[in-house]
Amino acid sequence: GWKAEKGEKVYLRRHTGNFHEVSLVRPEDVEPGGFETVFPFRESERDDEHALVAALKRADAPVMLIRLRPNQAVTKRAGQEDFNFGDLYAYSKICTHLGCPTSLFEQQTGLLLCPCHQSQFDVFEYAKPRFGPATRPLPQLPITVDEEGYLVARSDFIEAVGPAFWERKS
Ligand code: FES
Repeated sequence: GWKAEKGEKVYLRRHTGNFHEVSLVRPEDVEPGGFETVFPFRESERDDEHALVAALKRADAPVMLIRLRPNQAVTKRAGQEDFNFGDLYAYSKICTHLGCPTSLFEQQTGLLLCPCHQSQFDVFEYAKPRFGPATRPLPQLPITVDEEGYLVARSDFIEAVGPAFWERKS
């Protein structure tokens, strides 16, 4: 897993195919109804090529960045604060069943689909499982924008990423 040191910025980057190229994301880069896979990395990793590559390869790193349409509402968990930034929601891409990457977002139904065993997660309801073998919601990543208008993580994922049998390191 990754954890930002206190006060350190955690950026979200797109993977451009070049491990060493850092392509940061602004809210307007994702169209309403669209999604993008992004990867968190710490500010201190930016000038360190090895750390940057390692950040991209972290198994728990991939994030589904989803932009809902303006008329789409989300039900959050009871008692939970907002982890979104406007219409933008970030969830772990790693299926909580056996760890495959979720691959498709259906903008009409708000369902995120895992191709391995057809689990479906409902983005309109904090990505809780709707269908298939997964039993846990996809962990959300709290996001905001920094002073330059780039999307950043506010903290780590709110819950452990991936299937329960993944080794947890604190
Ligand atoms: Fe996603 Fe099994 S790994 S449904």
